[in-house]
Amino acid sequence: MENIYILGIESSCDETAASVVKNGTEIVSNVVASQIESHKRFGGVVPEIASRHHVEQITVVIEEALKQANIQPADLNAVCVTEGPGLVGALLIGINAAKAFSFAHGLPLIGVHHIAGHIYANALVQPMKFPLLALVVSGGHTELVLMKEDGNFELIGETRDDAAGEAYDKVARVLNIPYPGGPQIDRLAHESDGEVDFPRVWLEPDSYDFSFSGLKSAVINYKHNADQRGEVINPMHVAKGFQDSVVEVLTAKTLRAARQYNVKQVIAAGGVSANKGLRDALTATFNKEGIPFYVPPLKLCTDNAAMIAAAGTSMFKAGKRSDLTLNGRPGLEL
Ligand code: KG4
Ligand code: ZN
Repeated sequence: MENIYILGIESSCDETAASVVKNGTEIVSNVVASQIESHKRFGGVVPEIASRHHVEQITVVIEEALKQANIQPADLNAVCVTEGPGLVGALLIGINAAKAFSFAHGLPLIGVHHIAGHIYANALVQPMKFPLLALVVSGGHTELVLMKEDGNFELIGETRDDAAGEAYDKVARVLNIPYPGGPQIDRLAHESDGEVDFPRVWLEPDSYDFSFSGLKSAVINYKHNADQRGEVINPMHVAKGFQDSVVEVLTAKTLRAARQYNVKQVIAAGGVSANKGLRDALTATFNKEGIPFYVPPLKLCTDNAAMIAAAGTSMFKAGKRSDLTLNGRPGLEL
């Protein structure tokens, strides 16, 4: 079979990214322009600023991705772009660039779900085996997704309030750690010599849903109470207590789902899967269980366009195509 070369474009949040992927498994180029520095002083992503950066960066990253891949537009098979979910203004910039590129070069256009992208980041590391269970944990998502076969997604659990990454970032703010606080909390937790005991939120016994707002409030209350008593909290102990609660619940629910659905592979995806505490816990749990567990390297866990190209390749092979009416869909379902 002939090789398939896909250009992926991602602009759903605060990274402007473009990538060329071969056969859905091999990264030829992977360019990411991060805006984190610009959002830091606001403590989170400011949509208006994100859009402005995307406008400035989008053609630069696309040209750079093609240059690094040493490929001409005519040698591509399709252009794949994140359709949603995400910030609508941010999504539209990637989508319009993808539409223009596909129109100018006569290439098929394919809209890709951002979470499908995070899951297919794993295809860039090793072959995906089905049925597969994916724990998707990012700044906007906490989901357990069952894939019975390629291209088939079943949402079996999701957060009822805050996403895991959102909880990390909010707890970080309480501890005066700049955005995005996830990596810092992870580091503090690892260096800690003690921990504050925070609650685990399990919801109904048979539920695969998650809830993190109660835990977040517990951390905020702990800090307020200490402030009122004039006491100084130990940020390491707070970070460790918070992280242990998040990791224990995520790991236990993922294990229960993996058993119930008898999966052949478990993968973690999304920005929070960069978390060392979570990686270690999932690795140990599934080693013991005898189910192969994978998590992509850090660079592929956070937002990038190679994952969009990888998911797009599966859609391309399945004959899926979008047309020029493709629109940004902030609440797009998997
Ligand atoms: O997937 P991602 O790059 O963007 C979204 O689609 O949301 O995820 C970003 C999120 C942020 O909330 C960030 O704090 C979190 O992932 N994150 C982490 C770690 N690295 C990134 N959370 C906990 N531990 C980490 N090591
Ligand atoms: Zn993401």
